[in-house]
Amino acid sequence: MGIVVINFKTYAEATGQRAVELAKICEKVAKDTKMDVIVAVQNVDLFHVSSEVSIPVYAEHIDPVKYGAHTGKDLPEALVENGATGVLINHSEDRAELAEIEDDIKRAKGVGLQTIVCAPTAASSEAIAALSPDFIAVEPPELIGGDVSVSKAKPELISDTVKLVHRIDEKTPVLCGAGVKDHEDVRIAMNLGCKGILVASGVTKAKDPEKALLDLIKGMKKERKKRTGAA
Ligand code: G3P
Repeated sequence: MGIVVINFKTYAEATGQRAVELAKICEKVAKDTKMDVIVAVQNVDLFHVSSEVSIPVYAEHIDPVKYGAHTGKDLPEALVENGATGVLINHSEDRAELAEIEDDIKRAKGVGLQTIVCAPTAASSEAIAALSPDFIAVEPPELIGGDVSVSKAKPELISDTVKLVHRIDEKTPVLCGAGVKDHEDVRIAMNLGCKGILVASGVTKAKDPEKALLDLIKGMKKERKKRTGAA
């Protein structure tokens, strides 16, 4: 297993028509490398992006409301109708309380959306693991958007998170993110027990996003080859 999730956030380079173009690049790399690449796009771009690519497209936010009078909310059913296959929950830039996270996960699951729940610490990852998300992504907020990766600056955060999450459920895959920029960052993360990475600026703001994504995947393949001997 090796998953790369690219969070488009609200970067200019990954908004509207540019979101479609970037998603097409991600789709091409996914096909060329036979790796799982997921894009998480602004909810307003879901329909446009998902109509143009065949890789999974996640929403960046969900509200656990039901059909009815909820002005301005992101209804789970509407996310699905607009092409989302999953959703990011509790991102550092979109925090929720544990009870809200639980509601978000329940509603997402109820409509068939996969859930990647972010957490800033190993302890919060453990608490979230008890809510049975599909993935947990640990990201130290202070490293997000910077040039120093979680893998190099806080390797113990990754290994502690994997340990605590797997104490709750050893099948819950752990991803990590923040400052991930190159194959070595990815290789270290995978070596510490991650099943993939959550990355934003390293791809969205790269001069050549295809090259940047290929480089990240190189780190994943390197580690997989070491473990299994597979190409
Ligand atoms: O969701 C991914 C993210 O928060 C990490 O951002 O720019 O450090 O890769 P970045």
